[in-house]
Amino acid sequence: MTFDERLRNVSVIGAAGKMGSGIALLLAQEMAKQKLKPENKNVPYRLNLIDVNDVALDGLQTYLKGQLIKAGEKTTVLLRDLYKNREDLVENYDVIAAFVDDAMSLFRLGTDLGMAKNSHIIFEAVVEDKNIKVDLLKKLDQLTGKDAVYFTNTSSIPINVLNREANLGGRIIGFHFYNPPAVQKLAELIAADQTKPELKEMSLELAKRLRKTIVPSNDIAGFIGNGHFLRDGLHAIREAKKLADEYTLPGAIYIMNKVSQDLLVRPMGIFQLIDYVGVNVYQCISETVSGYIKGENLKDDLLAKMIQKKVLGGQRADGSQKDGFLKYEKGRPAGVYDLEKSEYKMFDPSGWSGEIDKKLGDYPKGIVPWRNLLMDPKKDEKLTVYFKNLNASNTLGAKLAKAYLKNSKEIGEFLVKSGVAKSAQDVNNVLLNGFYHLYGPINDYI
Ligand SMILES: NC(=O)c1ccc[n+]([C@@H]2O[C@H](COP(=O)([O-])OP(=O)(O)OC[C@H]3O[C@@H](n4cnc5c(N)ncnc54)[C@H](O)[C@@H]3O)[C@@H](O)[C@H]2O)c1
Repeated sequence: MTFDERLRNVSVIGAAGKMGSGIALLLAQEMAKQKLKPENKNVPYRLNLIDVNDVALDGLQTYLKGQLIKAGEKTTVLLRDLYKNREDLVENYDVIAAFVDDAMSLFRLGTDLGMAKNSHIIFEAVVEDKNIKVDLLKKLDQLTGKDAVYFTNTSSIPINVLNREANLGGRIIGFHFYNPPAVQKLAELIAADQTKPELKEMSLELAKRLRKTIVPSNDIAGFIGNGHFLRDGLHAIREAKKLADEYTLPGAIYIMNKVSQDLLVRPMGIFQLIDYVGVNVYQCISETVSGYIKGENLKDDLLAKMIQKKVLGGQRADGSQKDGFLKYEKGRPAGVYDLEKSEYKMFDPSGWSGEIDKKLGDYPKGIVPWRNLLMDPKKDEKLTVYFKNLNASNTLGAKLAKAYLKNSKEIGEFLVKSGVAKSAQDVNNVLLNGFYHLYGPINDYI
């Protein structure tokens, strides 16, 4: 069966979730393009969007329609070509409306797993729980023919474990999209020992069609992206705990977030990133990876304490950021959670946070915010100058930033040494493309 033939009947399980809905959007666009080819005129196409959450599925339909309109608006030239034989479509909005209708007609939404029966490609994007995933994969495998293949979006569970426990005989591969899947260019590809060679080839074809950059990762829990993120976050948490005696815990979290954003020239501070991913999701990655990697402490009780207080971060249905370690106003950090008082301590530039800023010291010369450097052709030159000045500085901020950079580099090198990544370049590519860093962790800046 060719890849195009497989693409005629696809299922996404967990379709109403954050990742599932984005994967559904990408597939809808690719499948609609296939369907519009003259040779496929009479071929039925189906995209089954399955989720246990009925209410969320209602929202999914509306979400997908809105996103398809936006995607259509960005690709009118391509759509005009696809619809060149439709003389009735005069204006751009006619063409976009036709495309949205065609894409929407692919969908079958529901809670019944049986809808996946005739699918030859299945995307699994349900919650990060091994038992739920294994149970689901087993059920799916009984429903579908033995030629069905599975792309799992797991962030941390080894693919070998899913393959073995669900008895899939190598018909599964980790295709780890980044959040949000429609925007992020990166996907990590993780093959189990038994993964069939043709499934690896299909994955490369899929990546090409969905315009994703693939970075291969070996099948070690956490893979490259979360392998780095988990350890990077734990470094910040542990440093914050050390600083808490002098600056209180909220003050120390404020410090580590600020240092990791401003002085490391990253798109967001580490605690903001943990909030973005979700404190509970981060905790879940920590628990899962800890279960598979022995001899390294990859847990911290601060996470459980936050979860106990139901301070979870993550996003609302409209994409806005929920409060977590930090409180957000108009999408920007405006306060920090005080576990002892169970309330947020708002930033106060003329009070406590201003005092901390003074203690962090002046920023080294040449510092440029991440946003300003993003599109700057002289980015690398400017970073080299800035990091040279950072290395020469001895302020509290500079010391913490240097220790942070060193730790991040050591994590990167460990991922290569322990066989998770094949090369330093693969580690750097994941951080550059999946986390929007301006430089990889394995660098000569430190
Ligand atoms: N959120 C991220 O940043 C991110 C990034 C990359 C990978 N992932 C991975 O993607 C997967 C999904 O994560 P998410 O953030 O989209 O989670 P989510 O909670 O937003 O969505 C999960 C969806 O799965 C549904 N679900 C749960 N059990 C189900 C079942 N048995 N059958 C059908 N549907 C079921 C839920 O109703 C929910 O809609 C996880 O494996 C996660 O580790 C997440």
